Amino acid sequence: MFDILILNGFIVSANSTIEADVAIKDGKIVGIGEYKQESAKKIINAAGNYILPGGIEAHMHCLAPFQGCIGPNDFYTQSISAAFGGVTMFMDFTNTKPGGSVFKEIGEREKEMKISAIDYSIHGKFLNCSQEIIDEIPKIIEYGVPTFKVFMTYKKEGVMCDDETIIKIFKKAKEFNGLPMLHCESDAIASLNNEENIKKGELKWKNFALAKPPLCEEEAFSRAGYLAKAVGTPILVVHTTTEGCLEIARLAKKNGQKIFVETGPHYLTIFDDLYDGEDGHLAICSPPLRKREDAENLWRGLSDGTIQLVGSDDCTYKREEKERFLKKDENGKLIQDYTKVVNGLSGLELRLPLLLSEGVNKKRLTINQVCALTSENAAKIYGCFPQKGIIQIGSDADITIVDLKKKMKISKDTLHNNSDFCLYEGMEITGAPVMTIASGDIIVEDNKFYGTKGKGRFIKRYLDKNLI
Ligand code: URP
Ligand code: ZN
Ligand code: ZN
Repeated sequence: MFDILILNGFIVSANSTIEADVAIKDGKIVGIGEYKQESAKKIINAAGNYILPGGIEAHMHCLAPFQGCIGPNDFYTQSISAAFGGVTMFMDFTNTKPGGSVFKEIGEREKEMKISAIDYSIHGKFLNCSQEIIDEIPKIIEYGVPTFKVFMTYKKEGVMCDDETIIKIFKKAKEFNGLPMLHCESDAIASLNNEENIKKGELKWKNFALAKPPLCEEEAFSRAGYLAKAVGTPILVVHTTTEGCLEIARLAKKNGQKIFVETGPHYLTIFDDLYDGEDGHLAICSPPLRKREDAENLWRGLSDGTIQLVGSDDCTYKREEKERFLKKDENGKLIQDYTKVVNGLSGLELRLPLLLSEGVNKKRLTINQVCALTSENAAKIYGCFPQKGIIQIGSDADITIVDLKKKMKISKDTLHNNSDFCLYEGMEITGAPVMTIASGDIIVEDNKFYGTKGKGRFIKRYLDKNLI
């Protein structure tokens, strides 16, 4: 007898939508076809709904000390929030210390992530470091961590890598089949603008976006592209926001270079006008939110394949953390100083609903493209396909069932991320996950969580160049 049968739904992959039933046993997908006469411990009628491979969130920051803040979550609470957003596997980064071993931090992160209710994986994070640390790369990759983030900004925070370190990391990555993930912002441009803004006292929220204009991102994006070209390695650029960057990626692809591109749901759905409001500090993230026209360019980039991934870059904070280092005037009103606000936004739980509502239902994307962007491409690019990222016999039974007609009013009160504000408060959307299954267990049904703390497993990943 099967554990679960999902009947009458449409099974979605990046390239197809088929009407068929799904049979699940012992945490795996064991059958796809006609199963209406069979019996199972649980039968789910998915008529009219879409059955997607569980979401893979490969870009988030939880329990990651940054700019004096750490957020209100641990990996269990974030796994609950993820599950409500149709995510069945997430990946976070090591909390690498200056001069410290990245390999050792993978072990530390593994311990912290053990309480997750969904499967998890880890990316390394490299700071400016010695050759000895870079030489850990083969060992890191062998351990199942083939991806590592490198920051081209945040010098003040001690996180930035200089070009010399970056190119050495690229070289090792190429040699041992790793994939560097780049945060592309020019520290020189941002720092110069910040210094000038500080001198002139122009520190309003809106000056944050002006200090990091599209050029700030594009300079770093093209430099990363050239450094990668110099050693001949593929790279992945995270949280990309501008058409200029997409143009660089298109040209690089035309010239045979591999630059994978990720954007975030916030860059598609909310805009820099938020910085004009009193609560603009709550929207401070890097790169900054851009203009509505920029978002339309990103939607086109998703649709034409220039962008292969949507990662939420979730950094959930409470209002208190966003305001922790700000002063107030004599009336108790915040004195705007963007340099004192921690960077980062929530997005883990809303990534899929926003893509369904603003992407599929507004005809900017197909459901197959959303499947690719949130699951299949991630599994292929990050090295866990076909265990993850597809509904096929033998794959993990990680599934999200989606109702494209479900209406939802977004509110901090109904999200599960422990924050006390939501930038999308009151936004009405259509399309949402209605059930999440992780390793064959129903973990969200009828808006209730049934997952188990610690049930998630550490998933080792190995890149397969033939897939990407
Ligand atoms: O504003 C952001 N994105 N904060 C998190 C760290 C990062 O750059 O990804
Ligand atoms: Zn980043
Ligand atoms: Zn990030």
